[in-house]
Amino acid sequence: MHKKNNLVDRDNIVIANSTKVRYNPMVIQSGSGSTLTDDQGRDYLDFGGNWALANLGYDNVKVKAAIQKQLENTSYAGIVSSINEPALQLAEKLVQLMPGDFNKKAWFGLSGSDAAEAAQRMVLAATGKSRILSFIGGMHGTNDSGMGLSGLPGEGGFRYGPHVIKAPFPDQYRSPFPGDEINVAERCISFIEDYLFKTICTPNDIAAIFVETVQSDSGDVVPPKNFLPLLRQLCDKYDILLVIDDIKIGLGRTGRMFSYEHYNVEADLILLGKSLGGGLPLSAVVGRAEVLDSGFAGFTTSGNATCCVAGYETLNEIERLNLVEYSSIAGNYLRDKLESSLMHYEIVGDIRGIGLIQGIDLVKDKASRLPNREAASNIVYRCWELGLLLYYVGNAGNVLEITPPLILTTKEIDKGVSILEQAFKDYTEGNIDQGKAAGFPGWFV
Ligand SMILES: Cc1ncc(COP(=O)(O)O)c(C=O)c1O
Repeated sequence: MHKKNNLVDRDNIVIANSTKVRYNPMVIQSGSGSTLTDDQGRDYLDFGGNWALANLGYDNVKVKAAIQKQLENTSYAGIVSSINEPALQLAEKLVQLMPGDFNKKAWFGLSGSDAAEAAQRMVLAATGKSRILSFIGGMHGTNDSGMGLSGLPGEGGFRYGPHVIKAPFPDQYRSPFPGDEINVAERCISFIEDYLFKTICTPNDIAAIFVETVQSDSGDVVPPKNFLPLLRQLCDKYDILLVIDDIKIGLGRTGRMFSYEHYNVEADLILLGKSLGGGLPLSAVVGRAEVLDSGFAGFTTSGNATCCVAGYETLNEIERLNLVEYSSIAGNYLRDKLESSLMHYEIVGDIRGIGLIQGIDLVKDKASRLPNREAASNIVYRCWELGLLLYYVGNAGNVLEITPPLILTTKEIDKGVSILEQAFKDYTEGNIDQGKAAGFPGWFV
């Protein structure tokens, strides 16, 4: 079993708690495939993918080689006051990948949060309008403007973003309109159009609607299939831009290159980040050229050539390894395994997701559907002890989230699900020391 060690002590002493969203005292020493190894030489199968960062796993040879080659030229080139080819190459690739027959450009930043902030600034500047609409439960970043756009209780609520209007998201398991799960998408759209637009905000003031196609951090909430098409119709009716936040689940995870491609709609802008940089800090906004040419949003290190070669090679690898198609196949396999192995537990209320993002909603009991955060934190901790990494998410912190590297094999899925089964067994039989997880509150400090 993992020993308390020097790195854990040093982390407690010198690393600011304000950066920490911890679920266990994991030390990362190295990684290979979908497995991370700690400083004691212990291996952990990674079902969390470092918060969906490691789509290609931990040692992709081509990405590594491209980074090394660029470092030999220089690590310094950016795009703010100069031009570099890796940034151009990546922008051209992203523009070509994004669906839609209109002029497109790309913007580069360093984190999903700064992409969400830049996109807000650009849509407001491009339209001359003053407000933005987003959804309760949404997660778009951890800077002030990202938090303002988000509606995640774990981020500390709704302190920022006075220009942002929040609308209910169509959760089919815990409907914001209790008793109406079936028509929840229509109810949410009508709430915006017939209530918000007629009370606190005219649609003429709304520059853009920002939305995740699966609200992951609020509990892997998958909206009904008609939601995105209805939202697109609403945007078209009132001349509002549609911005899809694909930072967490874009680039193949759902079984499509961009998650909204499942719904046959077009986006005006897409936000990308996390896995885009192949482990290096890189984010992007891709979309309508006239919007991206508006306002200013840049950093000294924007478009860093080393990050951009990593991004370009990451996209090439997704294509070369057929990871978009594979995510769908592996996701179905994972989902079947989870359902057959865990659904019978009284504390499992729902299992949902698309492709390789799956959530297990833990409840006090199936009838009440009351969130069970205590089970989530203990099971996640127990899994870590047993050699499996994953996190829990959710507005109430009760959903086990699985966002593994897209290269996860079916053998590894079998192994991970059997560890999960063991952890569920240990938890439900009372064989877990609950005090251990208590020091790791995740988002809910
Ligand atoms: C959907 C979504 N948008 C934006 C962000 C913010 O990204 P970052 O943490 O890289 O700033 C996240 C992070 O979890 C996210 O899941």
